[in-house]
Amino acid sequence: MPKSVASPHAVNIEDLRAMARRRLPRMAFDYIDGGADREWTLRENCRAYEQVLFRPRSAVATKSCDLGTTVLGINIDIPFLLAPVGSSRMFYPRGEERAASAAGDAGTIYTLSTLSGCRLEDVKAATSGDAWYQLYLVGGRDVANGAINRAKAAGYKALVVTIDTPVAGQRERDSRNGVKELLARNLSTVPYLGQMLARPSWLYSYFNDGGLMNFPNIVIGGEAMGYADVGAALEQSMVSWDDFRWIRDAWGGPVVVKGVHTADDARRAVGEGAEAIVVSNHGGRQLDGVAPTIRVLPEVVAAVKGQTEILLDGGIRRGSDVVKALCMGARAVLIGRAYAYGLGAAGEEGVARAIEILRSDIVRTMKLLGCATVADLDGSYVDVPAEWTARLPR
Ligand code: GLV
Repeated sequence: MPKSVASPHAVNIEDLRAMARRRLPRMAFDYIDGGADREWTLRENCRAYEQVLFRPRSAVATKSCDLGTTVLGINIDIPFLLAPVGSSRMFYPRGEERAASAAGDAGTIYTLSTLSGCRLEDVKAATSGDAWYQLYLVGGRDVANGAINRAKAAGYKALVVTIDTPVAGQRERDSRNGVKELLARNLSTVPYLGQMLARPSWLYSYFNDGGLMNFPNIVIGGEAMGYADVGAALEQSMVSWDDFRWIRDAWGGPVVVKGVHTADDARRAVGEGAEAIVVSNHGGRQLDGVAPTIRVLPEVVAAVKGQTEILLDGGIRRGSDVVKALCMGARAVLIGRAYAYGLGAAGEEGVARAIEILRSDIVRTMKLLGCATVADLDGSYVDVPAEWTARLPR
């Protein structure tokens, strides 16, 4: 591992974030780091963890901890997966492949975004572990069918359908950075260009990795879709429950619904046949002002626990956050920015470091709690603010 991402330089995820900020041009860093509108939900996703307090059992000798669990029948060695993160090839050469490889080495699942810069077959081949494919309906059902068939043939184990993109969130940082102008080739008007020139080593590695990124898993009329403003791609990604049924039938395997914010939608997803749901607000990148995911978790758990597997993403920056979510009923969580910062900082080694930071945090937290296995984490280890459970049936 390069010294830069090894301890003591990268002690926590915030350190990796600072390194990514130094290595990446601003538009790439902001794409990872930013959210919608005021970025309130983005911030609250993290802050809400500070309101969940631990109730440890002291003087319990916990020599080792078992972090293993299963999701959709797949054994994973750590209770978190890598979430779909679009455009990872912009953060590091072969970004999606590098992140998938690190996930496999850590004994967990990599979820590939439709908005990937690497071919889904190459990403699957890069990991020694299992992978899931996240589907957007960009280009319509025929185009999605092509990706579904390729994902099946490549051995992806589950399809993740994101349901919170009826339009794209207003990501003001991306607008300011001039992403649309760049794509329209109005190069002289783009702040972007100066940002890229300010990071010559990034620029060199980016263009050396096959030139301008496109979306090789969105094949329209035999051609990979050219790189589009992610906002424009999301505009074409609305999924209705009717589309969901079509997707589920076309895939024929386990389907995960990502983007559940309420008990009602959780019940609906279960009724529509979701094998797992992800309580997610898209990392605060879509509807700003929606509640932080950890705050919504109790309501969703009360509604559907036992009927589907409940996963959660958003705001996880420490292993203690993962432990809190597990205590509150999540089976596992997904990390997005936490590993994307590592990827932007140092490629695969940075992702590996992000995973190791969280893994060792979890072990330490569990030992301090006096709990030896992930399966034994439950609500008795945490105090949750009373207003978070006010909507639960009494
Ligand atoms: C893609 O899903 C994004 O949020 O940018």
